[in-house]
Amino acid sequence: MPEQKKIKWHKVADGEFDFAFGQNNMAQVSAGNKTICISKTSSGLHACASKCPHAGGVLSEGFIDNEDKIVCPIHRYKFNLINGRNTSGEGYYLKIYPLEIRENGIFVAIEEKGLFGF
Ligand code: FES
Repeated sequence: MPEQKKIKWHKVADGEFDFAFGQNNMAQVSAGNKTICISKTSSGLHACASKCPHAGGVLSEGFIDNEDKIVCPIHRYKFNLINGRNTSGEGYYLKIYPLEIRENGIFVAIEEKGLFGF
């Protein structure tokens, strides 16, 4: 039987107004021990890893294109914010975190590591 990963929801803001969105509609927040990139697109708020899986570009310094894809500021690879797929075709995968807007705030789900960090 495969081991199920435990997730923990972390409150990252009381509301959307709490995020320090730049002109690119992106901000960085902490959730648990992770730094998360929050993006505001026409389809709503999204949470993903703060660093690009290619070479570590800071994604919150990139931009959202007109198809709601996040574009890395370094080499301009593009990623789908729903499923993490690298839509510009280089074969990378961007970690996407579930995000929920609740009555008492905005929460991001992070997988918890096991006893030995696995
Ligand atoms: S570091 Fe992001 S595309 Fe190269």
